[in-house]
This record gives sequence, C-alpha cells and structure tokens, in this order.
Amino acid sequence: MPQMNRRNVLAVSTAALATATRLAAMGKPVAKTPFAFPPKFLWGAATAGHQVEGGNVNSDLWAIEHAKPTIFAEPSGDACDSYNRWAEDLDIVRDLGLNTYRFSLEWARIEPEPGEFSLGALDHYRRMIAGCRERGLTPMVTFNHFTAPRWFAANGGWEGEGAVDRFARYCERSAKALADQIGYATTLNEPELLRIFKWMPGLMPAELVKIQTQMLAAAAKASGSDRFGVMIAGDADRLLEPLIAAHRAGVAAIKGVRPDLPVGVSLAMIDDQAVGPNSLRDKKRAEVYGAWLEVAKADDFVGVQNYERQRLDAKGALPPPPGAELSQMGAEVYPASLEGVVRFAHAATGKPVIVTENGLATTDDIRRQAYIPQAIAGVARAMADGVPVLGYVHWSLLDNYEWIFGYRPRYGLVEVDRVTFKRTPKPSARVLGDIAKRNAV
Ligand code: FCB
Repeated sequence: MPQMNRRNVLAVSTAALATATRLAAMGKPVAKTPFAFPPKFLWGAATAGHQVEGGNVNSDLWAIEHAKPTIFAEPSGDACDSYNRWAEDLDIVRDLGLNTYRFSLEWARIEPEPGEFSLGALDHYRRMIAGCRERGLTPMVTFNHFTAPRWFAANGGWEGEGAVDRFARYCERSAKALADQIGYATTLNEPELLRIFKWMPGLMPAELVKIQTQMLAAAAKASGSDRFGVMIAGDADRLLEPLIAAHRAGVAAIKGVRPDLPVGVSLAMIDDQAVGPNSLRDKKRAEVYGAWLEVAKADDFVGVQNYERQRLDAKGALPPPPGAELSQMGAEVYPASLEGVVRFAHAATGKPVIVTENGLATTDDIRRQAYIPQAIAGVARAMADGVPVLGYVHWSLLDNYEWIFGYRPRYGLVEVDRVTFKRTPKPSARVLGDIAKRNAV
C-alpha cells in the first residue's frame, strides 16, 4: 500500500473527480425517479458454462475451436476455471448484494456419450445450486447455452435424427437431479440469434463463410462423421423448426419433473427502431422473433437479452449514427435499447419479462458504470407503465470467453487474471450491487 502523502491524496481525488466528471458527461439515468422495484425483484449476474468453466473438451465448440481452419480467435482453454472456482464466484455475487445467479449446465459433461449420464457432473451442478441457496441466491439455470456434446454435433446437431428426443431426455435427467432447488429455468439460449445475423449486413463476409464451412468439415472428419451441426454456425431457416420443437420438448420434460418450476426461453432481442416511411422494422421483427414470440406465449415468462438497437429504414438496417460511441463489438452504446425490447417482448407475448442478459463490451469500466443505471432506468420506466418485469440479470459476472472473439471483449463486472484466475470486482460491479441493495434506481 503506498504511503498517503499530500501529492498522492491530490492524485487520488483528481482521479475521482475526473471519473465523476466523465460519468456526469455520459448523462443521467432518467427513471420516473425514484423508482422502487417490487420486493423479490431478481438482481443478478450471468455466465454460461463453456465461457467460464474451462476444459469443456467433450463439447462441439471445443472441437471447432481446435479445427483447422477455424473462425475462433483462440480456443477456450481453461476459461475462468469456474468449474473449480464456482464457490468463489458465488461469494462474489452474494457480496455484491445481488440475489440471483444465472449459469448454464454443460450437456457435454452431463451426457458424455449418448445415453450415458454422469452422476458426478450432475452432482457438481447440484452442489452449485445448493451453493446458491446457501448464499441466498436464486439459481436461474439455462439447460443449453449454445454448446452441445461433440457426439450430438457429429450426428448432425439440431437437424440430426432424434435430436429433439435426445434433448428432451437430457432435460428430463437433469431436471430429475436438479429441478427441486432451481429458481427459474430456461431451455435454449438465443435460439434465434442466427436469424438476427441475417439482418446484420456485412457480418459474415464470403471469406469467413468459406472458413466456417471448412471448419465444420474438418470437425466432422475428426469425429468420423460427414456433418457437424452446431447451433451458432448453422442455417437459420433449417434450424427454426427443430429448435422450436426442442424448446417445447424441453419445457415438457422439465415440467414433467417439477410442474411448478417457471420455465421459459431467452431470446436475443435488438431494439428495432423504424426510421422514415415504409421502414422494414416490422418485417424484421416478424422474420426474426415472430415464431419465437408465439412459442413464448405458452411459457411462464419470456427472457430477453439485449445489447443494442438497430435503426431500419425502407431499404433495411442503417449504420450507427455518425459520431456514435461504439462498444468493443462495434455496436452503438445505447442503454435505452433495453427499455424498447422489454416493452416489445411483453406486448407481443403478454408474458412477464426477465432480463436474462444486458451489458456492454468495453475495457473502460467508467462506461459500464454509466451504462448500468441508464439501462435499468429504462426497465423502471417500462414497469412504471405496467410492464411486468421479474428481474434484471447483467451479462456478465466475469470477463470470459466470448465465443469466436476469444478473450478480447470485456463484458465482466469482475476482471479475471488470465494466468492466476484471480477475480477483481470492478467499480461497475458495485454500481449494480448498490442498485440491487437499494432495490431502487
Ligand atoms: C449473448 C450470449 C452470451 C454472450 C453475450 C455477449 O449473445 O448469450 O453468451 O456471448 O451475448
């Protein structure tokens, strides 16, 4: 600890002032203030197995991360070592003042070979769920967050024969072992993500598509198969029907074990905004979310995951406004987008909403400190107008493995040292924790 003398006291307060000035310049959250959230409102942080656990060697993504060529910037490797350090992660969530932890089960660990279930892996997740309860945290469990076992992919993935039944069987076995202590369950994470990609011009240049095809062919060959089907690199149209069937079968399987457990699906949702006459906004909404919003009408809640807005005119998607501040992912930093999707998802389904993900990719935590209250203020505005929202779960608890982009994008409330795995909460984590403790914005 450096000695406090006049010079470094001055330096510290100058830095604090600079932070405060920058935060003020980023605008204030505008809720119908002060807004008090209902008691039992879920305040959480999220992770996903493959992105934090490490060593997920039996999964489809591990295979394509290591294929030659690959579209992945780097392999997931040890990730955040959360398979071993989950208790430390849960302590952080509790100590911040949050009451909910969203995480996912790794199917590849639970069912390493078709029909062969690992009691050890199920026990691991049972301990995590119990660990949440012991700390007063509501466990929100995603049964499938993009990854599947390698054998499932080698059978054609979600388009393979028997895929839906296999998913249902996995859900049933997992629910039998775990459902009694789960708080909220979701089946699939962002099953319509590929449909969103279709509306993002330039996202997949021809060269990348070519490498992706070669990558899948290499993974198929290495698995002794002629095809390798993965959820995040498939055909959006061909996957629609099997994924909807998988969701429905998954819900039925989970409900068959525990009928009163709230189950839903988490949808990737961009705040689509119409610009000018004849905007394609509604066409996009119908094509991307339409079928899934219909499906969600039969669920207990709809999970929404939002990171950005998109403006659409009569010709299609517009780029971010000139001069807009961009995230590390190249998206316009626009916290009010969350309010837009919360309102839309409820209006379209009539169901209560849970914000299962919302966050910002930035290495500048001051940006995140400003973003969080602004996004939550939007939720408060929607709730003040009568939209039922059950919770806000921030993505992500940890700086983690961001799929094809590797470890570069930083979404975490908590920094993770890539060598020692030491966790260090950032100031933004306290910003969220303080809102949760006050239960108000
Ligand atoms: C969502 C994913 C999550 C993470 C965030 C940034 O699409 O569900 O795993 O990658 O984006």
